[in-house]
Parts: sequence; structure tokens; C-alpha cells
Amino acid sequence: MTRILAALSAAVCLTAGLAAAPAAAAPAAAEHRPRTLGELAEKHHKYFGSATDNPEFTDAAYLKLLGSEFGQTTPGNAMKWYATEPERGVFDFTAADQVVAFAKAHHQKVRGHTLIWHNQLPAWLTEGTWTPDELRAILKNHIQTEVRHFKGQVMHWDVVNEAFNEDGTYRETLFYKTLGPGYIADALRWAHETDRHAKLYLNDYNVDGIGPKSDAYYTLIKQLKADGVPVEGFGIQGHLALQYGFPADVQQNMQRFADLGVEVAVTELDIRMNLPATPDKLATQATWYADYVKACLAVKKCVGVTIWDYTDKYSWIPAVFPGEGAALPYDENLLPKPAYYSIKKVLGG
Ligand code: G3I
Repeated sequence: MTRILAALSAAVCLTAGLAAAPAAAAPAAAEHRPRTLGELAEKHHKYFGSATDNPEFTDAAYLKLLGSEFGQTTPGNAMKWYATEPERGVFDFTAADQVVAFAKAHHQKVRGHTLIWHNQLPAWLTEGTWTPDELRAILKNHIQTEVRHFKGQVMHWDVVNEAFNEDGTYRETLFYKTLGPGYIADALRWAHETDRHAKLYLNDYNVDGIGPKSDAYYTLIKQLKADGVPVEGFGIQGHLALQYGFPADVQQNMQRFADLGVEVAVTELDIRMNLPATPDKLATQATWYADYVKACLAVKKCVGVTIWDYTDKYSWIPAVFPGEGAALPYDENLLPKPAYYSIKKVLGG
């Protein structure tokens, strides 16, 4: 009996000891936890984020990484016009609120994307015929209602997305054709009236280096600033493809916008390739990601980098460019690829 009691008591002590061990060891383990991309970027006073989309919110493993690894998020679709004002004057922020609530719960900054774009517009808007006065009123109401709804929760707004063609001429959108180029200044002013703290951006792709399209933004932003229009940021989307080569002058291009007095953000970075992905292509991709992030680190007014979702599982690329993909730093099984480690290294991890 005594022997049984002694054995029991030893077992209890052992169990207690084991139970106590993880609690005592927890702080040390936390200290040695590898820093996340978001935390590493913060040491440089920048953010590192990922876009996301609502259908992905049913994927727990995906959400765990989204909430832990990144310091910023952008709703990939939820803030676009078709989602937020599906009928004229009827607003629906359900999907966008879901993303913003997730970001808040995980201490992430939010980029608002996007108030004016020629894509993903509701049918009532594209199929209607509008006088300039009508369209101006619709635009103002859309911008101000959305900006008001997210006031204090959105750090940047992509006020106008993709306003220029590749040759630097204005894209002939519904807004441009009806209102002329002045719609951009109006939109910026209306957004600023509603939220004086959100930074207002113009955002586009193929503006990584110096060329006709980025020149058009340079000229426009210079003029807007001279006219006292509240433009505060230039968003460089950064949708690259291995087969087209790494853009030249990325850092110089960022710096010239910074020198105009606006901040710069890399807003939608991804680097696609022709499939299948090979170790060589993944290695080149890793170098490109590192070089892009390095350029942002070298420019004080480059405030952060957002990748256009973080896993190949949810990339937009295969649907739009058949035969291409593998564009993001995590693979389809949510495992980090060489690009993840190269970004981490550049950030000092
Ligand atoms: O909502 C419908 C759904 O009802 C339907 O069942 C499904 C069937 O295909 O389509 C759904 O719509 C899709 C939508 O995303 C929402 O998931 C569209 O087909 C699809 O074309 C759309 O793609 C988005 C694309 O913008 C549209 O141009 C991508 O998710 C989004 O990542 C992408 O993001 C853009 C940025 O906003 C601007 N810069 C370029 C970037 C990549 O194209």
C-alpha cells in the first residue's frame, strides 16, 4: 500500500512538473520565436502586408498565417464599387467590414482599395447614361459614403486606380469620358473632406520603373500638389512576371515620387512565372522579391509592401494568365517558398 501511495505521489509530482514546465518555459520560447515579416518590417518603420478576400475566410489555416505573419492587409475585392454600392444609393459594407474586423483583431493596418476603378463596377452604373452633373453627384456620394463608413479604420485609400494607359495617356474610362481629367482632383478633394487622416493614393501597375506611364503620374502628382489637391501617396502595384525581366530603376522611380513630397507604397506585389515552377525559377523569383523589398527599404518615404495575397492557393494569376502562376511567397499548401526566406533575410530576419 505504502509502495502504491509513493508511486502515485511520484506520478502526481511528475505530472505536475510536466504540466508546470511549458508555463515556465513559455516566455523564453516566445523570445526565441522567429520574427514575422510584419514584425521585421516594423523595425524599419514600414509595414509588410498581404491582400485577402472574403471567400478565404472559411480557411482556418490560411487565416492563422494571415493574422500572424502580416502587419497590414488590403481587401482584394470587398471595397470595390460592385461590392459596396450594388444598387444606386444602396450601400453594403458587409464583406469589407469582415476584412476590417479581422485586421483590427490582429492589429493590422488596412489599405482601402479602391474608390474609383474602371473594373468591377456595378451594372446600374456602367449601363446607365449620365450627364456630367449626374455622374459627379454619383461619384461624390459613392466616395464620401464609403470613406465615412471606414473613417479611422483605413490608413490609405487608393482613390483612383489605373487611370493611365501604358503610353501615359488617360485611360478612356466612364469617368474620364464624362468628366474629363478633373475627376481625379475632385475625387481626392471629396475623400479628403470626409477623412482628413487617411492618406490618399493614386495606384497603378507597370509603373515600377521610369517610363511613359510612371512619367504621367509624376507629372500629374506634381501638378496636383501645385494646385493644393490632397494627393499624398503613389501606389506601385508591382505585378511582375519572370519572362519580362526585372524592371529597371525601381528605387530611383520611388525616390523621384518621394522627392515630389508624396509617400510611396508597393501595393500589390506578386511575381508570376510560366508553369511548371522549377527550382531555378523559384530562386530567381526569390531574388526579385528581395530586390523589390530592398528598393523600398532604401527609400525613406516608401512606407510598406503588400503582396497580392500570400499563397499560390488564392492567387488571381492562373485565372487570368492560363499556364502562369506560382507568384506568391507561400505555395498552395501554405508552405513558405524560397521567396519567403529571401524577403525575411532582406528585412533582417
Ligand atoms: O463574385 C463572383 C462570383 O459570384 C462568381 O461565382 C465567380 C465566378 O468566377 O466570380 C466572382 O467574381 C470574381 C471576383 O474577382 C471576386 O472573386 C471575378 O470573376 C474575378 O475576375 C475577380 O478578380 C479580381 C480582379 O481584380 C478583377 O479585375 C481579383 O480577385 C482581384 O485580386 C484583382 O485585383 C486587381 C486589383 O484590384 C487592381 N490591380 C490588379 C489586380 C489583379 O487583377
